[in-house]
Amino acid sequence: MSEENVLTKEIAEQFVADEDSVDLEEFTAIEDAAAESLSKHEGTLYLEGLTSLSDAAAESLSKHKGDLCLGGLTRLSDAAAESLGKCTGDLTLDGLTSLSDVAAESLSKHEGTVCNVGAGTGSYEPDDREVVAVEPSQAMIEQRTSKNRVECATAESLPFPDGAFDAAMAIMSVHHWENPQAGLAEMQRVAARQIVFTFDPNRQADLWLVRDYLPEILELEQARAISIEQIVECLPGAHVETVSVPWY
Ligand SMILES: C[S@@+](CC[C@H](N)C(=O)[O-])C[C@H]1O[C@@H](n2cnc3c(N)ncnc32)[C@H](O)[C@@H]1O
Repeated sequence: MSEENVLTKEIAEQFVADEDSVDLEEFTAIEDAAAESLSKHEGTLYLEGLTSLSDAAAESLSKHKGDLCLGGLTRLSDAAAESLGKCTGDLTLDGLTSLSDVAAESLSKHEGTVCNVGAGTGSYEPDDREVVAVEPSQAMIEQRTSKNRVECATAESLPFPDGAFDAAMAIMSVHHWENPQAGLAEMQRVAARQIVFTFDPNRQADLWLVRDYLPEILELEQARAISIEQIVECLPGAHVETVSVPWY
């Protein structure tokens, strides 16, 4: 078993005095007092090696001015997530494997950038985030009312550098894409997290719209449908959540 390498208050103070003298990425744990010292540092804190973080340390780190890289953490308590959700710089938490609903809600308050792929006219685009929309249809773009930036492009070739966004979303769009696998790979390239809202093609025949009004579209829709399983296969580690759509 590898030994814990603890970032102590003394080392943190040395880093604050001269950031080139210490490589923060080496440390797997951090003392609360060290986090308190680092809160005075201005600039990015590369703490990618940390595998645990106390609530007190999270609170201190969230107060520092700059980006916070904590990609080695696999879990986060609700209290730690609440603190980190308030930090002002970019937040990297790529390694999380589980998160409670409360923690996810807290982190969602952290200002993040979002790429809305297949944005259409911009319905369902968040208005409390910095969003860049991607839409290939000029007719759809012309009907947008949002002031968010929009790029005329396809999911299969997103015009952004790697890791440009915190999250990429696609709402009722994946089944339209010529190559959904390529589009989902692009979403992973440009963003740390992906959210795909779609439907289960196996249940489409039961949908009131198809069953009562447009039974003819079933054949067309089934031919281009991508199953939930196929989407999950393209997004390793993805979890599926069923969203209820109330019928009034
Ligand atoms: C059903 S609309 C959904 C629009 C919007 N996301 C919403 O929920 O209101 C599907 C959208 O996907 C877009 N689309 C089609 N092919 C695409 C592709 N290859 N890449 C990205 N978007 C695409 C369409 O132009 C259309 O605007």
